[in-house]
This record gives sequence, C-alpha cells and structure tokens, in this order.
Amino acid sequence: MSSSKPQIFKGLEGVYVSETRLSYIDGLNSRLYYVGYRIEDLVAFSNYEEVAFLLYFYRLPKKEEFELFRALMREAREVPPDVADIVKRMALRNAHPMDILRTCVSYISMYDPELYVGTREANIRKAVRLVSKMPTLVALIYRVSRGLEPIEPRKDLGHAENFLYMLHGKVPSEFEAKVMDTIFILHAEHGMNASSFASLVTASTLADIYSAVVSGISTLKGPLHGGAAEAAYYQFKEIGEPERVEAWVQEALKARRRIMGMGHRVYKSYDPRAKIMKELDGEIASKYGGEPEKLYKIAIKLEEVALKEFEARGRTDIQPNIDYYTPIAYTALKIPPELFTLTFAASRTVGWTAKVIEYVQDNRLIRPLDYYIGELDKKYIPITER
Ligand SMILES: CC(C)(COP(=O)(O)OP(=O)(O)OC[C@H]1O[C@@H](n2cnc3c(N)ncnc32)[C@H](O)[C@@H]1OP(=O)(O)O)[C@@H](O)C(=O)NCCC(=O)NCCS
Repeated sequence: MSSSKPQIFKGLEGVYVSETRLSYIDGLNSRLYYVGYRIEDLVAFSNYEEVAFLLYFYRLPKKEEFELFRALMREAREVPPDVADIVKRMALRNAHPMDILRTCVSYISMYDPELYVGTREANIRKAVRLVSKMPTLVALIYRVSRGLEPIEPRKDLGHAENFLYMLHGKVPSEFEAKVMDTIFILHAEHGMNASSFASLVTASTLADIYSAVVSGISTLKGPLHGGAAEAAYYQFKEIGEPERVEAWVQEALKARRRIMGMGHRVYKSYDPRAKIMKELDGEIASKYGGEPEKLYKIAIKLEEVALKEFEARGRTDIQPNIDYYTPIAYTALKIPPELFTLTFAASRTVGWTAKVIEYVQDNRLIRPLDYYIGELDKKYIPITER
C-alpha cells in the first residue's frame, strides 16, 4: 500500500476522461455548442432529426442526406407488440415509468439483428433505430399505464410532432410541435454528464450499445441529474402561490434543502438552455394561462428570491439549469411530471449513443482507482468465537 495519500477528485470534479468533438460547454460564459454550432442557432433554425445527424456525422446533412436520414428514423419508430405486456405488468406493480422505460430498452435490444455487431456503421444504425423508438416507448408507457389504448406512430409527422400525437391522439399545433422539438434539441447532448459517463463506462468494457443506454437511463433517473425537472415541478406545486415564495425559501435554506433545478457542476453562469426555456415559458404563460402561467410566476419569483439569497452567501454561481424551466412547457404540452425524465431520456439517447460511438473508436477500459483506508492483515475469527 502506498504511504502517501493520492489526491482524490471527489465526484471526479475537474477530471478529463476523453477528447470529444460532440459538444462544448463554456460554463463561465453561458455557451453550449453541438459540433461547433451554438445551441441558440440550432433551436432557431434546425430540428431534432437534423441535430441527431449532426451528432452522428459531425456535420449538417445535405438536403438528400437529411431526407434519407429522416425517412430511416420514421421507418424505425414501431416497437415490438409484446412490449405492451411488459409495460402492463410493471404498471400493475406501480413501477415508476422511468423504471419501465429502462426495462423496455433492455427488452427490445434482443429484437435488434445487429445487437452484437460493434462496427461504427452498425452502432450508428442501432443508435438511429433506438432513438426513433424512444418516443414510441415513452408514449406507450404513458398510455398503457393509464389504461388507454396505445397509438401507433405516424410516418408523416416530425419526431417531436409524432411524439405528442402518440401521447394524446391528436396532431399538435405548430407551436406545440416547436416547443417539443426545442426541448428535444436542448437535451440531445451535454458534455461528460453523469449519465453519459455511465454509458461510456459500460461501453468501454465492449458491452453493446443498448446496455450503454440502459446505464444512461439508470443514471439519468436521480434527482441530482435528469430527475431534477420532476422534483422542480413538485417544488413549485409545494410552494403553491408566488406570494409564498419568500417564506418557502427561508424555510428551505434553513433546513439545508436544495432548490431543485438550480446549480450545476459546469455552468457557473446562467445555463443557456434554461435561458431559452425561460423565454419560451414566458410566451407559453401568456398564450395558455392556467397552470403553466401559475408555475411560471412561481418560478420567476423563486429565481429572484433564491438568487438574492445565494448571492448574500457568496454563491453567484448557483443559477437555474434547464430542469428548472422545462416543467412549465411540459405542463402546457400536457406531459405529466412522471414522464419528464423519460422525455429527457428519449432526447439524450442521441448524446449517449453518439458519445459511445465516438469513444469506442479509440477505446480504453474505464477503470479508475479507490484509495483503501481500512485495516490490513486482520485475524480471521471463526463464526462461533465472534
Ligand atoms: C447540480 C448539483 C448536483 C451540482 O452539485 P455540485 O457540483 O456538487 O455543487 P457545488 O459544488 O456547486 O455546490 C455544492 C454546495 O452548494 C450548495 N448548492 C448547490 N446547489 C444548490 C441548490 N440547488 N440549492 C441549494 N444549495 C445548493 C450547497 O450548499 C451544496 O453544499 P451541500 O453539499 O453542503 O448541500 C447541485 O447544484 C444540485 O443538487 N442541484 C439541484 C438538483 C438539480 O437541479 N440538478 C440538475 C442539474 S442539471
């Protein structure tokens, strides 16, 4: 055992584990880029399918390439019919929809004829198939869990548009489809976040890409990561009224509770995705009124009060992240809180798989160390003498 204690990077903070050309977070200047493109431009001019192409091929597609890619995605939307039975059985046990999604992805892997083909081309084909099926799985889980008939995907609708159609059985308005597409684009990829790292750890053992995504889903679930949006929604509901924000914040900080949807390991300035969502939420609030407007007012007030309190404690770096502002848009789209993390997962499947495909090109098993602080050479005492 080494005598000097090595430096331990708790939470792997500040540790680089790979090189990437996929995304860049400039956490001090509120910037996020996918393959060099600013997220604001992608939201304004692109769409989720094109962003998926960008992340797999490191460039924007030409018109014919895009049409072919989009057609492949639309063709791959259907899921095996027996998945509904699994969903039904798990829903009867009151499983959280995120647990059902994790199981469904694992289950459908056995239907992929290229499951154990590990070439870059096969991995892209599998990734595209899985990304295309994710919204179908989420909608199926939603409908079957509520005793509703599942709705088959439609090939004539865009990725985001079709997702809302499969959830509610109604083609969404252009505005709703754009809101959904924005949410999908904003969640597609995000540096070496916890779930992407988990996917890479799995993939670095040369396990298949579905297993890597299952690791990603499992890791995304927690409230410190993707589960934060659901937690932020319940936090706004607990506050109840904008007038209650002041008192709630005082109590929460006294009890050392975290404000869900605020703070970030990398952003020490405003999360640019949260800024986009906040602006969109403002538009949603005035358009829809009702619950989205109420949640928006609470969120705005909470941001104001919490930031003032954090600043007074010398923490100007704790600011809203994307999960703070998505619950308002989700509510307007009639997506219930238990589906927030699943929707995130459906989008992030592009990022997980693109990262895995990039990493395994120059693979090295991920295997860090832990520093042993226990005793050594202890005497074994038989069970009857302890
Ligand atoms: C995201 C998060 C896990 C980052 O954690 P981290 O990198 O370890 O956080 P930092 O090193 O910047 O700061 C840790 C300290 O800052 C404070 N802090 C950080 N985020 C806070 C929040 N949202 N509310 C209140 N205090 C917070 C706490 O005092 C915390 O210390 P503690 O461990 O004693 O409670 C954390 O900010 C958090 O839990 N946020 C809420 C959950 C969330 O929104 N997650 C989604 C992220 S996209």
